[in-house]
Amino acid sequence: MVANFRKNLVISAILAVSTAFSASLSAAPTLKVGIYLPMSGRTASFGADVYSGMKMAIDEINKAGKVKINAILEDEKSEPTDSANAVKKLINIDKVNIVLGSVASSNTNAAAPIAQAAKIPLMTPASTNPNVTKNGEYISRICFIDDFQGSALAKFAKNDLKATKAAIVLDSASDYSQGLSAAFRKEFKALGGEIVTEVSYQAGDQDFSSQLTKIRTKKPEVIFVPGYYSEVGNMMRQATKLKVKGPFIGGDGWSADELAQLAGDGIEGHFYSAHFSHEDTDPAVQGFVKKYKSLMKKNPSDMAALGYDAIYFAADVFKRNGFKTDAEGLKNAINTTKNYPGITGNITLDSDRNATKPLVIIATHKGGHKFKQRVQP
Ligand code: PHE
Repeated sequence: MVANFRKNLVISAILAVSTAFSASLSAAPTLKVGIYLPMSGRTASFGADVYSGMKMAIDEINKAGKVKINAILEDEKSEPTDSANAVKKLINIDKVNIVLGSVASSNTNAAAPIAQAAKIPLMTPASTNPNVTKNGEYISRICFIDDFQGSALAKFAKNDLKATKAAIVLDSASDYSQGLSAAFRKEFKALGGEIVTEVSYQAGDQDFSSQLTKIRTKKPEVIFVPGYYSEVGNMMRQATKLKVKGPFIGGDGWSADELAQLAGDGIEGHFYSAHFSHEDTDPAVQGFVKKYKSLMKKNPSDMAALGYDAIYFAADVFKRNGFKTDAEGLKNAINTTKNYPGITGNITLDSDRNATKPLVIIATHKGGHKFKQRVQP
């Protein structure tokens, strides 16, 4: 709580500075950007991370002065209903030109129909569930989808970890968890693997001993947990106590500093997929890492990089629309994006308005996670 409170204070202070600064740039063409993110609630770490990258990009763009990003941030509180309300407010009251967010797929899925009905472009930097962009032609994303993420993780389990028996632990009400496990299950079976058990939990659960005890009796060689860091971190800690043998593998939902804090000694030796690694030696990535580190005093997560890309992407779309703010023009510019060079990779949107990009596999360690390999689509 205290940590979140402090993070929010830092964010509002920086936001205040950038707003004051951009007031002097009124001559530049202006894009009104509505941002909705989980700044509080059980996935607040996602909001803080994405917004840290966004804020950095907004400040850079406004300082350069060619265009002005007028950003309005709404907290979606890690909840689908609040996500829908936040987007209603951004569109109906603030009259934004474009909406960016959110992170958890269930929340973006709750908000997207509102943007689609209002015909205002909504682009998510991080929601990976395939259904998100099926909400309509005004909905897009600059990240890969879970069909790719799930099948890459199944291949990693089978080919790299040499596992033939997997258990799946599902967050039962999460669109993300459902979709990612479906993709994993399909590919793992196609490769000749067996799913020895599937168990589930509810978002917010803290005690996973009954699920872990059941898994232990089935002796899987990997435990696939397509969930978010708060539950996964607790699960890892309890798995060590209950002597459940991993490794655990999971997707981008693990990406938060809190994962290791919650897991304690249980963090050692697991694997997850992410959108970006700060260890990437690409000069553009390293330039971003250096700038981010000097500002935030830590390495950027994949979500920080996606947030940074989302703002620059919106500015590029604005430029490609001749600096006009009409929603249809912005939507068409988004949907015809080809080879936009992001920090998280090249962005080309396909006919379903999804990006095809590589992912990275990260190995978790007590002293800091390590880049393991890159997987091309
Ligand atoms: N992909 C996750 C989802 O769709 C959200 C997420 C993205 C979490 C990136 C962490 C990092 O729910």
